[in-house]
Amino acid sequence: MLLTDKTAVISGAASARGIGRATARLFAEQGARVAILDLDATAAKGAAAELGPDHIGIGCDVGDLTNCRQAAEQAIAAFGKIDILINNAGISQPLKVMDIAPENWQLVVDVNLTGVLYLSQAFIPHMRTRKQGSIACMSSVSAQRGGGIFGGPHYSAAKAGVLGLAKAMARELGPDGIRVNSVTPGLIQTDITGGKLTSEMKADIIKGIPLNRLGDAKDVANIYLFLASDLSAYVTGAVIDVNGGMLIH
Ligand SMILES: NC(=O)c1ccc[n+]([C@@H]2O[C@H](COP(=O)([O-])OP(=O)(O)OC[C@H]3O[C@@H](n4cnc5c(N)ncnc54)[C@H](O)[C@@H]3O)[C@@H](O)[C@H]2O)c1
Repeated sequence: MLLTDKTAVISGAASARGIGRATARLFAEQGARVAILDLDATAAKGAAAELGPDHIGIGCDVGDLTNCRQAAEQAIAAFGKIDILINNAGISQPLKVMDIAPENWQLVVDVNLTGVLYLSQAFIPHMRTRKQGSIACMSSVSAQRGGGIFGGPHYSAAKAGVLGLAKAMARELGPDGIRVNSVTPGLIQTDITGGKLTSEMKADIIKGIPLNRLGDAKDVANIYLFLASDLSAYVTGAVIDVNGGMLIH
C-alpha cells in the first residue's frame, strides 16, 4: 500500500462519478484516511461514510477563504495531521467568448483558480510546521490547447492560472519540504458536462486521441496517487498530462 498512515484532504470529491470521488476511494484502498470536501455537505458526508468509519466529509466552498480555513481546522482536528491536499474541485461552462458575463467569469475563476489558492493557504501553515506535504492541483488540457473540448475560454484561463500558481507555490514551498504538482487531464467521463456532451461530440473527440478512448476518473486518480505518495518524492512543479495522447508536446 502506498499511503499507509497518511491523511489526505480532497476537494470536490462528493459527486458519484467524479475524479475526486474515485481518488478518495483509491487513497482509502491504499491505506489513507480521507477528508472529502465538497460544496454539497450532505453528499460529502455520504461519500465519506461509504468509504468507512475512518473517513470524514466536510461542507466547503473552496472559493470562500473563511470556509476553507474552517474546513482545514476541522480536518486537522479530526486526523491530527494532514499529509496530502488534492485541489480537485472545479466547474465548467460551455460558453463562447462573447457569451461570458461577468458573473460567469467570476464563478469559474473563483472555483477553479481562487479555490486552489485559498484551500492551499488554509493548509500550508500546518504543512510548514511539519516540514512536509504534497499538494496536487487540478488543471486541464484546456489550459494547454486553448479549450475547444467543452469548457469556455474563462475555464481555459482559470485552468492555465492553476499551472502558474502551482509552479510558483512549488518554488516557494520546496524549502519547507512541501511538493506542489499539477495534473492536466483530457476528456474524462464524469458528470461535469451535465449531459451536454452528445455521443457524436464524443466520437469526434476520440478520433483525435491516439489511445482511442476517453479517460476514466480512475485514470486521473492513479496520477494523483503517484503525486501524493512517496513514489514522487523528488517531483515538484511538474505538470502531468493524463489525456491519452490528445495533446503531445
Ligand atoms: N471531466 C473532465 O473531462 C475533466 C478534464 C480536465 C479537468 N477536469 C477537472 O477535474 C475536476 C473534477 O471534475 P469532475 O469531472 O470529476 O467533475 P464533477 O462535477 O464530477 O466533480 C466536481 C466536484 O466539485 C464540487 N464543487 C463544485 N464547486 C465547488 C466549490 N465551490 N467548492 C467545493 N466543491 C465544489 C462538485 O460538487 C463536485 O462534487 C474539476 O476541477 C474539473 O475542472 C475535468
